[in-house]
Amino acid sequence: MGRQVIQCTSVYFSPTGTTRRVVKGISQGLSMRPRDFDVTLPPARDRGVNLERDELLILASPVYGGRLPPLSRDFFNRLAPGKRPVVAVVVYGNRDYEDALLELYDLCVAKGYEVVGAAAFIGEHSYSHVMGKNRPDPADEERARRFGLSVRQTMLTDNSLGEQPLLAKGRRPYRAYPDKFAFALSTSKRCANCLSCVRHCPVGAFDKGDPRRVNQKKCIMCAACLKLCPEGAKFIDDPDFRDDMASLVASNLDRKEPVVFLP
Ligand SMILES: Cc1cc2nc3c(=O)[nH]c(=O)nc-3n(C[C@H](O)[C@H](O)[C@H](O)COP(=O)(O)O)c2cc1C
Repeated sequence: MGRQVIQCTSVYFSPTGTTRRVVKGISQGLSMRPRDFDVTLPPARDRGVNLERDELLILASPVYGGRLPPLSRDFFNRLAPGKRPVVAVVVYGNRDYEDALLELYDLCVAKGYEVVGAAAFIGEHSYSHVMGKNRPDPADEERARRFGLSVRQTMLTDNSLGEQPLLAKGRRPYRAYPDKFAFALSTSKRCANCLSCVRHCPVGAFDKGDPRRVNQKKCIMCAACLKLCPEGAKFIDDPDFRDDMASLVASNLDRKEPVVFLP
């Protein structure tokens, strides 16, 4: 008989929108329209997420420094514990996802959730238009749909009950989260004061009265403002950052493919 899952809820953090697109593909494959909780912005996180009994949960986050960003980790950690099937997903910028998926998997297991599928997908890198350019692309979206369909089929059969997928990647203890992605954000003269950066900042780091002013202590360097500014007015004016990015891009131009893990 498999599990009777009548509802699906997706909860994800996605400052530059790639994680959101992967979740959408997976939901399509599951043939379920999830209750959608995009918890990128502070009001959504403040409202919280009420989980129903027995529903399928999709938890998804970008990868920062081979780990879960503290913001998504802490939010997911506050979700209600209990036995429920979960699909764990990370999205990374064509470099590596290292321990991030294992960290999400462990977080789920610690809450009593049953991981019925786990996956790492690729999204265009937050700081680049070259690394993972335009991803997820149609091939990734199709892979996400097929993954969703496989999860659905697995859940409908008895033999997967109680089994969780083995992840082929990640180590405990996890790699250290970088102390801080500590490059100062600048604003060029192109800024038209449209407040797009203010609206899209997940941590309210911009001064509403003057979006050129950013609270560097709050900034998590998610790049939402860089990618979403219609004038391209946000930039990181730091030679170390440019050097780091140049070598990162040079060594990660090969196309990485999504990986999925099923019980
Ligand atoms: C602070 C920061 C750290 C990142 N670290 C990694 C990393 O370790 N490996 C990688 O491949 N991509 C890394 N990325 C890229 C993102 O994981 C990737 O672009 C992802 O698709 C962004 O998701 P989003 O569009 O939902 O925000 C990083 C991005 C940021 C902003």
